[in-house]
Amino acid sequence: MCGIVGYIGNKSADSVLLVGLERLEYRGYDSAGIGIIEDGEMTIRKREGKLKALNDLLREMPVSGNIGIAHTRWATHGEPTTHNAHPHTDSQKKFALVHNGIIENYAELKEELIKEGYIFQSETDTEVIVHLLSKHYKDNFEQAVIKVINLLEGSFALAIISEYHPDTLIGARRGSPLIVGKGKGENFLASDIHALVNLTKTVYYLEDNEIAVLKRERLSFFNNTGKSIKKEEKHITIEAKAIDKAGHEHFMLKEIMEQPRIISNIIEKRIRDNKIHFSHIPMGNEYLVRVGRIIIQAAGTSWHAGLVGKFMIEEFARVHTEVDISSEFRYRNPVIEGDTLMIAISQSGETADTIAGLREAKSKFIKVLGLVNNKESTIARESDAVIDILAGPEIGVASTKAYIAQIISLFLWALYIARIKWSLKKETVEQYIQELKDLPDKIEQILKQKDKIEKLAKKYAAKNNFIFLGRSYNYPTAFEGALKLKEISYIHSTAYQAGEFKHGPIALIDATVPVICIVTKGEIYPKMLSNIQEVKSRKGIIITIATEGDESIKKLSDDVIYVPQTIDILSPVVNVIPLQLLAYYIAIQRGADVDQPRNLAKSVTVE
Ligand code: F6R
Repeated sequence: MCGIVGYIGNKSADSVLLVGLERLEYRGYDSAGIGIIEDGEMTIRKREGKLKALNDLLREMPVSGNIGIAHTRWATHGEPTTHNAHPHTDSQKKFALVHNGIIENYAELKEELIKEGYIFQSETDTEVIVHLLSKHYKDNFEQAVIKVINLLEGSFALAIISEYHPDTLIGARRGSPLIVGKGKGENFLASDIHALVNLTKTVYYLEDNEIAVLKRERLSFFNNTGKSIKKEEKHITIEAKAIDKAGHEHFMLKEIMEQPRIISNIIEKRIRDNKIHFSHIPMGNEYLVRVGRIIIQAAGTSWHAGLVGKFMIEEFARVHTEVDISSEFRYRNPVIEGDTLMIAISQSGETADTIAGLREAKSKFIKVLGLVNNKESTIARESDAVIDILAGPEIGVASTKAYIAQIISLFLWALYIARIKWSLKKETVEQYIQELKDLPDKIEQILKQKDKIEKLAKKYAAKNNFIFLGRSYNYPTAFEGALKLKEISYIHSTAYQAGEFKHGPIALIDATVPVICIVTKGEIYPKMLSNIQEVKSRKGIIITIATEGDESIKKLSDDVIYVPQTIDILSPVVNVIPLQLLAYYIAIQRGADVDQPRNLAKSVTVE
């Protein structure tokens, strides 16, 4: 949420910063800005709107220098206007900073500063930090930063420059990620590893309350008491090609199309000789056998994956499993005792609500298994064990390939526990593995229907309300389909467990509302048919996701999208694919920006 880049070196800072911002724009795109020290003087350029607006401004009013900071914003405090855009400066423009996170005590700090005569230019929480720096600065830049961060409550990742010290860039973090990149005669700061791809392979991840001081030729690290600390050097493995669109019009489409390959990759990495390998997970079989309860907590799409995971874990491993929305879990004083395992699911590994849930669990002394797409993320680092979902960088704001990678990782994890506990026979697990191995081809078949789905999207794109229905393993698929549609096309869409629909929501049905029904062949097929009948008799428009060869479904449907048959428990992976494509093409029809939908940002690092 918001992107930060910082640079000190011999290159022209503006070009390095702009490339970094481009890579981070999916983190927020309300406004953007850069601050550069040019000939000893602080120069700020910022603009409301997407990065393009800042680029245009910089073409009219170029700025160059060898040290600078940059930001792309997702507004929390204060509207997305130019004066609220970062960087923020103190009144004399001696300090400039960019910030991710929320300063929770900003109102009190602001009141005090105003009483002391400081004049504020914006409505942001961030601006207090820069005035505090100006207030506490006494010749020593690091000392002033340390003093100020100790006054702040809440979360922050900061990149700061000062006209008094044109050879120094400072970064500090608490709660929001910040990475230092080491180069030759140049160093970098970034909120996200993607900004550093192609610039350096050597990085340091700051922990909470740590400060990094970057000079051209030197890096030093401190904690918030001012004590010098040593940081472990890490190496980036992401290649630049993993974060480009590979010829597709949008990242979202690229990521949808990549899904068969992602599944094959997970199979390749996790299955050898027909056995599932999670042996790198340091939890010990003795402990895993003892686990009597699992709490999954996650947000958004990851929560939907958790809902599917519950079916898998309970069915295979026979462990009682609950699924919580992270932002709720944290605040309801959950009963946690005995051998409870928490699974924290998060694509980014940086979702503030999920981190808070994880910390709550750790404070109650239960173990946490993180299921993440970023092994260096906060959730990965704070979990007792980590499963990398192996989806590769996901840039589209609407999550697609990470969702199916999360489900498949949970499927394999549940089978793995089942084997440890002997709750499933070896042969049964092998059959499930075979079904999984068949999935990439099945998904390829659905992807081949994309033109047909595009036509369907054209037919329904003008509708203003959609309802999604699913049952059993596929009620989370209905939830996910509705989320995909609403977040990228801004169409109101809502999902229900199909059996629950008649208990009130069915009142919504009339001849104008398309109802997307997931009715693939399986155990609950007959029940699902009855639920569709109920909608049909109230004149709802019915679009079905059905199993290939199911001719009779046509009688009930206005339109059908066929998918290949798989086992019930894997059907959520297959059935979500047409819903992703439908959402994508409807959004395109409506002229929406699918990779950067309004009001959203990838990785929600505020609570
Ligand atoms: C929806 C979407 C969000 C995320 C949610 C959690 O397409 O991407 O709902 O799933 O913000 O994010 P992570 O998984 O990074 O914790």
